[in-house]
Amino acid sequence: MVYQLHPLEINPKTGEPFLRLAAPHKNIILTPPRQGDQSVLIQHMNDPAIYGWMKRLPTPYLPEHADFWIQFVKEESDTTLEYLRKSAEDFPNGPLQFVGASPVRHLREVKEDGTDVLIGDVNFRRSPFEEVLDEVERKRLQEDNAKKQAGDPTIQYAIGDWLAVTHHGRGIMTAAVGLLMTAWGIPRMGVRHVVVHTFAGNIGSNRVFEKNGFVNRGPSNNGIIVRGEKKVLTLLDWKYDLDENET
Ligand SMILES: CC(C)(COP(=O)(O)OP(=O)(O)OC[C@H]1O[C@@H](n2cnc3c(N)ncnc32)[C@H](O)[C@@H]1OP(=O)(O)O)[C@@H](O)C(=O)NCCC(=O)NCCS
Repeated sequence: MVYQLHPLEINPKTGEPFLRLAAPHKNIILTPPRQGDQSVLIQHMNDPAIYGWMKRLPTPYLPEHADFWIQFVKEESDTTLEYLRKSAEDFPNGPLQFVGASPVRHLREVKEDGTDVLIGDVNFRRSPFEEVLDEVERKRLQEDNAKKQAGDPTIQYAIGDWLAVTHHGRGIMTAAVGLLMTAWGIPRMGVRHVVVHTFAGNIGSNRVFEKNGFVNRGPSNNGIIVRGEKKVLTLLDWKYDLDENET
């Protein structure tokens, strides 16, 4: 029978699926969001070194924001896993089914005693088309893109990420974005086009994407105002290389 959760591993104690980063970060795994992640999330989302670089975060970030968010992302993960488990029955001989999201996204550091700590998040979502200046056109593109079936190669995705400040600068997010793309996004979601926008000056974030094959297209100014401040963005994009992958 085809393993529809491929290439996720399963924690034998908890049954939770996960992906493990490669060496030297083998103690870091990507897992589904969990009920109970709220308190650590609140701590990091109120850290100016994190929220200062993010667009859509309420500040201050309150328990009700975290409750809403964890329910939302947990539901997305649960629905995806449920669909894949059902696909194992519906398509016992394959093929592997495409899905619209990654069921694993929370970065956790696994300690020697087996417990783990939430240290970040990396995820795909449908693109907000921030690069399109005309609002009506942007909305139309967002809606068309949102309607497309999982696996459609014309879907434009975005990636969101953050990492606990204690763990910055060790190559962790570069590895996590690479893993999410190669192990899940490309083979299991059919991701072929990703566009990200960082705030101008977010050199660490730009480097994470550049080191994963994104091309830095420079400043993109759509007049966005974040927490009362006008922000210039940097646009980076990635396209699946057909020549490299299909020959
Ligand atoms: C952006 C972020 C996810 C990067 O994660 P990370 O694990 O620290 O990144 P890495 O260690 O993989 O670093 C990638 C590169 O950026 C460089 N870098 C990291 N932080 C940097 C900084 N503050 N200034 C300059 N370069 C930096 C690293 O040196 C590395 O480049 P190199 O290999 O050429 O030396 C993390 O800094 C973060 O969570 N920032 C706040 C939230 C955020 O910006 N999210 C992204 C929104 S678009």
